[in-house]
Amino acid sequence: MTLTVRSVPTTPFEGQKPGTSGLRKKVKVFAEKNYTENFVQCILDAAGEQAVNGAVLVVGGDGRYFLKEAVDIIIKICAGNGVGRLLVGQNGILSTPAVSALIRSNKANGGIICTASHNPGGPENDFGIKFNCENGGPAPDAFTNKMYDLSKVIKEYKVVEGINVDLNKIGTNKFEVNGKSFVVDIIDSVANYVELMKEIFDFGKLKAFVSGSKPLKMRIDALNGVTGPYVREIFINQLGATDDNVVHTIPLPDFGGLHPDPNLTYAKDLVDTVSAGDYDIGAAFDGDGDRNMILGNKAFFVTPNDSLAVIADYVDCIPYFKKNGVQGFARSMPTAAALDRVAKAKGQEVFETPTGWKYFGNLMDANRLCLCGEESFGTGSNHIREKDGIWAALAWLSIMEHTKKSIEEICKEHWKKYGRNYFTRYDYEECELAPCNQMMTDLENLITKPDFVGREFSNGGKTYKIKLGDNFGYTDPIDGSVATKQGLRIIFEDGSRIVMRLSGTGSSGATVRLYIEAYEATNVLGAAADMLKPLINIALEISQLPKYTGRNAPTVIT
Ligand code: G6P
Ligand code: ZN
Repeated sequence: MTLTVRSVPTTPFEGQKPGTSGLRKKVKVFAEKNYTENFVQCILDAAGEQAVNGAVLVVGGDGRYFLKEAVDIIIKICAGNGVGRLLVGQNGILSTPAVSALIRSNKANGGIICTASHNPGGPENDFGIKFNCENGGPAPDAFTNKMYDLSKVIKEYKVVEGINVDLNKIGTNKFEVNGKSFVVDIIDSVANYVELMKEIFDFGKLKAFVSGSKPLKMRIDALNGVTGPYVREIFINQLGATDDNVVHTIPLPDFGGLHPDPNLTYAKDLVDTVSAGDYDIGAAFDGDGDRNMILGNKAFFVTPNDSLAVIADYVDCIPYFKKNGVQGFARSMPTAAALDRVAKAKGQEVFETPTGWKYFGNLMDANRLCLCGEESFGTGSNHIREKDGIWAALAWLSIMEHTKKSIEEICKEHWKKYGRNYFTRYDYEECELAPCNQMMTDLENLITKPDFVGREFSNGGKTYKIKLGDNFGYTDPIDGSVATKQGLRIIFEDGSRIVMRLSGTGSSGATVRLYIEAYEATNVLGAAADMLKPLINIALEISQLPKYTGRNAPTVIT
């Protein structure tokens, strides 16, 4: 029986504007009649004929509340728009890195990912949808702007209502829509990704290291997010770890009430357990599996900046890079510059991009970049076009195996060799938007005045002299596209920096991010909080943040 397509009249919703990483709103908003349908239709319209008609798309998400409903809508709308085949993770489950890998290994035309990443889930919390292109990476600005423009004028969406697929059952579901074939393959959520990890890392060596005669003391925390099944397959089944090495490995619709963000505040259980116990490594991943946090013994914290720099330094102990060579590094602008020093030592190019993984894609596709990261707990390589939490943990295990040293020793040696970029980020969440915008405007005016350069600020016995103040802009070296107003930078003579920007991933209100970085060439073993205090005070003074936001303390410190 051939199924027919129905055009359903609809009207635009306000604010379907994708942020740093897709559209994120409360579940209640996505559940409004036609809201999700409209947005999916706009994705397909923005993707255009060749990425839709007869195309292959990957669909999945992080297991959060509303996932199955959204996947069902996506299947029906894809059918209505002439898509040829969908690869859907079992029960809708696919981590963000796994989607990226599947798009690439199947030469698919793109993928639709249902996630609000590290934002809390459940009926009262967030949902999200984003589109990844055929290179496996998040859609670039031009594409998401097009989606947004279309969302403002949408009049109808196309749907095939008679398609019902059992998401639990692995296998092929064939349909005929207007005389053409439409296939929905329900696939194993982890198999393809695990194969990729086995190609990148030396699983033989890692297995001996993790579960040999002296088993590694490990605590891997999936925070009830999507990585649970991946963690179990890789660490337990492949590397021989035991059940007590992994926790929170069942993806839950509300993440068990946890905030699935791997940082010192939200991954508290991991931090407390690793501090109190005797562990060689602690690691956590976010809701959709692209972020990571790495801890050493007694919860020695590896900042994402240092993590990236250390992996860059030891890049040769990962078989993937040995085989494919090393082609450049990159970090986002707010990320501390520890990486730059390694790049210099290795004679590698290093790029400074705006916040958002999408800015790395072009450089990777052009073979100018193979390893990159962000201060926001993202680390990854050109094996896919997303950051990759489990990949980062496996990279650290590879370095530990290679050096036979502890995480703390590895970091301290790194600082002795390169100096240390002390770093912290203060987040002020759910502030009122208008005063925050005003603060950013006023601060920009102040720091871009010519007489700002050369001014000196002193606090706690330290004096910092201004070298430059600007609103960061970036021209993509590959396609020349320009991104402006990516964050305010105050750079000091000694390389220390204050950066301030508004988050692009929140679903309500404004989140101010204040990034503080102080470089020390030799004084590398101080406590980060003490070392950064003077610069933090200077940042609060210059920006007048407490006055504008009414906040005397950040919500989260990372
Ligand atoms: C997501 C993106 C990252 C980005 C982060 C920034 O996680 O995938 O690439 O660094 O958002 O979020 P923000 O809230 O600071 O805009
Ligand atoms: Zn994420």
